[in-house]
Amino acid sequence: MNDSAPLTITGLRKTYRISRKDKIEALCGLDLTLKKGEIYGLLGPNGSGKTTVLKIILDLIRPDSGNASIFGIPHTNYLARKSVGYTPEEAGFFGFMKGKDFLKICAQLIGISKAENAREVARVISAISLETESERKIKTYSKGARQRLLIAQALLNNPGLLLLDEPTSGLDPIGINCLREILSNLKNEGVTIFLCSHLLTEVEKIADRIGILLNGMLIEEAEVSAITAHSKLEDYFMQKVGSNPE
Ligand SMILES: Nc1ncnc2c1ncn2[C@@H]1O[C@H](COP(=O)(O)OP(=O)(O)OP(=O)(O)O)[C@@H](O)[C@H]1O
Ligand SMILES: [Mg+2]
Repeated sequence: MNDSAPLTITGLRKTYRISRKDKIEALCGLDLTLKKGEIYGLLGPNGSGKTTVLKIILDLIRPDSGNASIFGIPHTNYLARKSVGYTPEEAGFFGFMKGKDFLKICAQLIGISKAENAREVARVISAISLETESERKIKTYSKGARQRLLIAQALLNNPGLLLLDEPTSGLDPIGINCLREILSNLKNEGVTIFLCSHLLTEVEKIADRIGILLNGMLIEEAEVSAITAHSKLEDYFMQKVGSNPE
């Protein structure tokens, strides 16, 4: 890692073609820069473009135009992804597999050597307190344990930048508290976290800064402390989104 920003996005545009005649403009020229060590909450209604941003950063889909760089490295360069961890919005697991074995395979896939595999897997299991469940088949996991397993795989490469797509979806208050603790530990270790979420009360508690994405445009960016000095994040969000009709 270097002194460059963990993530810089400039002029990102993305159109999905859904039929010969119709297309959806998912991103309309997005500019965004993350500061090192912050938790940035990207908020926005369903369909506002959050997942599209993450997929472009990871080079899973290509934008029509615009650029992104990760610690100064163009996002299309595979080296950029060496410093990124990612938890997708929806994940499919092989239920017959034990959590520990799933993590071993993930470690192999990202090039962790045989000699270091067990140690690194144990490290991430401990980081997200999955010791008990890791010996069990994934099909026996609660939603909360599955979410923690997803985060565990994202930590295997010691990422400097963590991209989380709706990590709290389906979690109960205890699971949410647990996730908050994990994220705040990671932040204390210097990890920058890009958190896409609908759970505004949670983002209010954990994020340093937020951006509001609406119809593929960033309509607001603010420090959370500046917002909460006057109102709840939820009220602020509703006001901003409501005053920007589609
Ligand atoms: N593969 C695709 N093909 C066509 N349209 C798509 C595709 N993926 C996303 N879209 C459209 O692009 C827009 C942005 O979708 P995206 O999934 O990025 O939004 P989102 O903010 O992540 O939504 P949510 O909060 O529901 O997860 C939406 O209008 C969606 O219907
Ligand atoms: Mg999404």
